[in-house]
Amino acid sequence: MIEKLNQLREKIEDALAAAKIPSAVEDLRVKMLGRKGEMTLLLKTVGSLPAEERKEMGKKANEVRDWVTEKIEEARVRLEAEAQNAALKSEAMDITLPGKRRAQGRLHPVSVTFSRLEDLFVSLGFDIVDGPHIETVYHNFDALNSPPTHPNRDESDTFYVNENLVLRTHTSPVQVRTMESRKPPIRIVAPGQTFRRDEIDATHTPAFHQMEGLVVDKNITFGDLKGMLEIIVRYVFGEEAKIRLRPSHFPFTEPSAEVDITCYSCKNGLSKSSALDCRVCKGSGWVELWGCGMVHPKVLEMSGINPREYSGYAFGLGIDRITSALHGLADPRLYFENDVQFLSQFVG
Ligand code: PHE
Repeated sequence: MIEKLNQLREKIEDALAAAKIPSAVEDLRVKMLGRKGEMTLLLKTVGSLPAEERKEMGKKANEVRDWVTEKIEEARVRLEAEAQNAALKSEAMDITLPGKRRAQGRLHPVSVTFSRLEDLFVSLGFDIVDGPHIETVYHNFDALNSPPTHPNRDESDTFYVNENLVLRTHTSPVQVRTMESRKPPIRIVAPGQTFRRDEIDATHTPAFHQMEGLVVDKNITFGDLKGMLEIIVRYVFGEEAKIRLRPSHFPFTEPSAEVDITCYSCKNGLSKSSALDCRVCKGSGWVELWGCGMVHPKVLEMSGINPREYSGYAFGLGIDRITSALHGLADPRLYFENDVQFLSQFVG
């Protein structure tokens, strides 16, 4: 009996020394001290010993059981603490490290200009309408009173898809589409991208942005157009903004004008020499922002509106130039290079 107890004790000591995780200790406890455990069964045999041995063996056996119980409990506590420390270590984080910054997108400066202007026009009762980038030659030219002999129909100025389709050279074809599908009174703006075979320089890029405006109603005059231009310029550039209307020519308006503002780059040559050097206004002191005029009677007629009953005005805002003027930027190429550092300076 004594020998068996000692064997068991050694066995348990070895097993405890080998145990690495709390569940191994628990398994050992069940195997030894559980209802059918080796230790429990051995203790049960004490009752069948002769009376003179029983007392002493019983005492001894209880001592061993208490010792085993204690050792197992000790091992459990130790291994549980070790497991917890290991977990804490693996989950530890250095809260002094800098955080990961998530890149935040924002509106492109050109989009900001579009949405500011859309706000203005919606508040003035205009509808915002859309038109296709790939446009028919008819809508882009013929219906706008540009006959096949007009120089702007030259292949060196325009991207042709085929004989009948072009990348629209302006947003003006949306005027035609609108007049074809609506009856006066008409008040629309048509924002969007436009395309020309321009050499890239400080004021030209092959893709650019316009916002077409069209108003057709009874008794619309050039005075209405001028009033609207002043509203737009003051809204965009502030009450102090100065504009100049310069007689011009567009096949689809008569009379026509260019709207200029004082050069945003050289500030209209505060010193004369800087205006002469200026890359943006090329020394004139003024920058052309957009064209406008009274809708040509032929254009009204071709789109099914009686020019004896109705008149209208139109304008084509140059969105890239307005954006450059607002931010004092000299080079429109920056809008297309998608340099995030450049673009992130603009708050949308
Ligand atoms: N479509 C003209 C352009 O792109 C601008 C314009 C629009 C002029 C409307 C007059 C009226 O230059």
